[in-house]
Amino acid sequence: MCGIIGIIDLSGDVSERLFKGLKLLEYRGYDSAGMAVIDDNRLHVVKDRGRIDEIHEKYDFLTLKGNIGIAHTRWATHGAPDKVNAHPHIDCMGSIAVVHNGIIENFMDLKTELMEQGHRFRSRTDTEVIAHLFEEYLKNEADVETAFVKTLRKLDGAYALAVLTVKEPQKIFCARVDSPLVLGVEGEKVYCSSDIPSLLPFTNKIVPLEDGEYAVLTPGNIMIKRISDGSPVRRAFKELDMGIDEAKKDGYPHYMLKEIYEQPYSIRYALGIQRNYLELMADFIDRSSRLYIVAAGTSYHAGVVGSYIFSRLARIPGLPVIASEFVSRYGDSISVEDSILAISQSGETRDVLWAVEQAKIRGATILAVVNVLASTLTRISRIYLHQQSGPEIGVAATKTYTGQLAVLYKIGFTLARKRGKLGQDEMDRFVDELNKVPEVVEILLKRCDHDMRKLANEIKDSKYVIFLGRGVNTATAYEGRLKLMEISYIPSLAYPAGENKHGPISLIERGIPVIGLVQDDETKKLMISNLHEVRSRGAKTYVISSIDDNDIREVSDVLIKVPQVSAIFTPIVYAIPLQLLAYYTSVLRGLDPDKPRNLAKSVTVI
Ligand code: F6R
Repeated sequence: MCGIIGIIDLSGDVSERLFKGLKLLEYRGYDSAGMAVIDDNRLHVVKDRGRIDEIHEKYDFLTLKGNIGIAHTRWATHGAPDKVNAHPHIDCMGSIAVVHNGIIENFMDLKTELMEQGHRFRSRTDTEVIAHLFEEYLKNEADVETAFVKTLRKLDGAYALAVLTVKEPQKIFCARVDSPLVLGVEGEKVYCSSDIPSLLPFTNKIVPLEDGEYAVLTPGNIMIKRISDGSPVRRAFKELDMGIDEAKKDGYPHYMLKEIYEQPYSIRYALGIQRNYLELMADFIDRSSRLYIVAAGTSYHAGVVGSYIFSRLARIPGLPVIASEFVSRYGDSISVEDSILAISQSGETRDVLWAVEQAKIRGATILAVVNVLASTLTRISRIYLHQQSGPEIGVAATKTYTGQLAVLYKIGFTLARKRGKLGQDEMDRFVDELNKVPEVVEILLKRCDHDMRKLANEIKDSKYVIFLGRGVNTATAYEGRLKLMEISYIPSLAYPAGENKHGPISLIERGIPVIGLVQDDETKKLMISNLHEVRSRGAKTYVISSIDDNDIREVSDVLIKVPQVSAIFTPIVYAIPLQLLAYYTSVLRGLDPDKPRNLAKSVTVI
């Protein structure tokens, strides 16, 4: 996730406003930043690695003069966080500047073509292809807007863009596909930005750009059209009545809810992970004798799901281990032939780092899935995959959990292909379905919000709550329990439903809520009979399932029906109602879900 902003202001230099807006976007990424303005028909660019203030101290953004400009704060995805990879990116002639948030999935193909046509690339980013592609179209196309649209139509992936060209020095061209972009106006001044809060110091007259649209900004005017057919879009400005703090949460009352609702995007970003890194990671896993999946808390639950995925898709056993237990349980048996796949959102969890350091001393290969770039874990691992969920501010992990799962599916499929463990048809069907998961999540969020609010109201005063799952959703049950417990403080239990009869069933009494997760696989029948066991002893059963048949209905006091997906993908789809349940329960109990007591976002102590 990165932040972009563009401003046209004929009454003065834009750099001061760009700088102010950029600072408000810094939460979206902070490994490098840059600004480009057009002055006297020439582009002037300042950029470097580091935080915005550090770069400002070194170069002073305010020395940039000009009435039109764009700026960027980066959270690296393609290419290391250094000066050359910082945005804005320019074309060969230095007459086009681009800032971008998102991932251009076909950038390697485009780059190869453009290099064959003689374009010289400076960076390793996906973004730079946009500048060169636009440059290429402008060679034969007199109309700048047409060249811009042709450029957009060649791009696959997600993007929010703002582009300057000296050919039309009073215009900003911008576009949006699956990455946020809003537009603002204040008299003759016009703006585009990744979010509303960064515009609120200047204007409250805002209009969102929707997916599949582009806009041409000129002084005092904004024209919006569809990328696909160039048809004009009429959309009225809204006059917002909210402060920056409220707007930072995109109008949501808490970061946690905002982050839950960001999942269609964040999962899509995670699925866009670069193939060459996946291949490398899969090579290491394939070569190792044993694979340990090491993580803490929510990330451990992702690891448990990962172990099912790797076994099901690639016939590879991966042993999930809670990081703080790893050294005492397996330290003595780790060898040079083993791989450790560490999963950590922050990349700074001390328990995880300790386990990894000890395994490394014993010669094991360290692999990682992380969200925070340049974190300690990225530095000590041989290969890491960046899940690209963007900063998560709510203490409870939500979008980063489903992002981790998305990356684990990608690893699973890469391994399966390498080892020839899935038939081509099955592989194609699964991969196709995985790519549609972000859309499913979008539908699901709309569908289940109300149900989960209602359910939260029913369980909010419960003595305790029990979560049951089997197979791939055992971990979803653990995750549902952790979410509910950590932000609502209601004691909760979760265990594989088969364990019921070995003890926990004694806890069942009249009215105790049992939340059951049922997927359509070999566990379905057993899960249904486990739900009968608890229901016949007085428990109230709330069942989350994409199955809707008589067996399920018969065993559910309340059935929360979620969209149909193959059983293997249900851990993403079933986790989302559980996140909403925890959130609404916490709010109904008068608590702050963003800041649960005694917890920190990153746990750097043992
Ligand atoms: C729970 C939660 C924690 C973290 C755990 C590991 O909602 O966020 O359980 O998952 O502290 O953190 P990372 O993933 O940063 O290693």
